[in-house]
Amino acid sequence: KDIKVIGIPFDFGQDHIGVRLAPHVLREANLIPRLQNIVKTEDLGDIIFPFKLVEAKKDKYIKHSLGAGLGTKAISDRLEEEDLSKSFLLNVGGDHGLGLGTIHGLLSHHPESVVVWADAHGDINTPETSPSGNFHGMPLAFLLGLSQHPHFGWIRRKLLPNKLIFFGPRDLDEGEKDIIARHNIQYYSSEDINRLGAKEVIEMALHKADPFGICPIHLSFDVDVFDQMDIDSTGTKVPYGPKLEELFLMGGVLAETGRLKSMDLVELNPQIGDAASVERSIALVLEFVEATLGQVFHAGKEKK
Ligand code: ARG
Ligand code: MN
Ligand code: MN
Ligand code: MN
Repeated sequence: KDIKVIGIPFDFGQDHIGVRLAPHVLREANLIPRLQNIVKTEDLGDIIFPFKLVEAKKDKYIKHSLGAGLGTKAISDRLEEEDLSKSFLLNVGGDHGLGLGTIHGLLSHHPESVVVWADAHGDINTPETSPSGNFHGMPLAFLLGLSQHPHFGWIRRKLLPNKLIFFGPRDLDEGEKDIIARHNIQYYSSEDINRLGAKEVIEMALHKADPFGICPIHLSFDVDVFDQMDIDSTGTKVPYGPKLEELFLMGGVLAETGRLKSMDLVELNPQIGDAASVERSIALVLEFVEATLGQVFHAGKEKK
């Protein structure tokens, strides 16, 4: 088993262009050598997107919808063709809109996947319920088949609502609350996590989503799930996040199942915050990835 890393500088999901720099700054901060210390790591390079143009005429519901639609399709196609039979895949974003592409592509390899969406937000707005028109608040609505749009006509797989788990949300829009309730999606706020403990929450959630404990797991990790005191360099910070140790514990519990196969790391924006807080944000993100993947490969060794 090894790690494959792919850079996904996708930024069509919101209006800050800094997120496209995250794969570059994380590599500069030694992401690859640090993973290489854990296990053999291959850097697949970046998926290339055209630069974001300011659209003269705004799409009615989704900003940059053409880029978002073509971009997520390119991501899905790229992951679909990759041999992942012996690899853990780390997708380094980019904004969270890319989750539609990564997960759609991964479903071709593992159709039964459970997705843990660690985020301060729900990212399950439809174009109609979105207050912002930002696509990074919508990827799950498309992935669950709740939205249609001409630029997303390529979508041909669906994630079932009972395979989705929200971890850490605390800033949901009204329309998102409706959707989550209507589809009975598992939802654990930072308050639930701090009260019950991350380990208990994740074990309970995985048991409900996959009672036999056989499905591969994908972690879609939005760095804004960290409390805003812990991370500054991200575009949509929210207070009252889960404690740092609970988030690290969540990564550890997922790793120990032996079924964590892939992860998105999104919404780090090195253009937000002063130099010191950018450095701190990068350090925290690297520490999280290193700790989680360290346990993926350590746990695997002990069991086999
Ligand atoms: N719910 C808000 C919206 O739809 C914020 C979404 C933030 N998403 C993110 N991936 N950071 O615009
Ligand atoms: Mn998100
Ligand atoms: Mn978020
Ligand atoms: Mn924004």
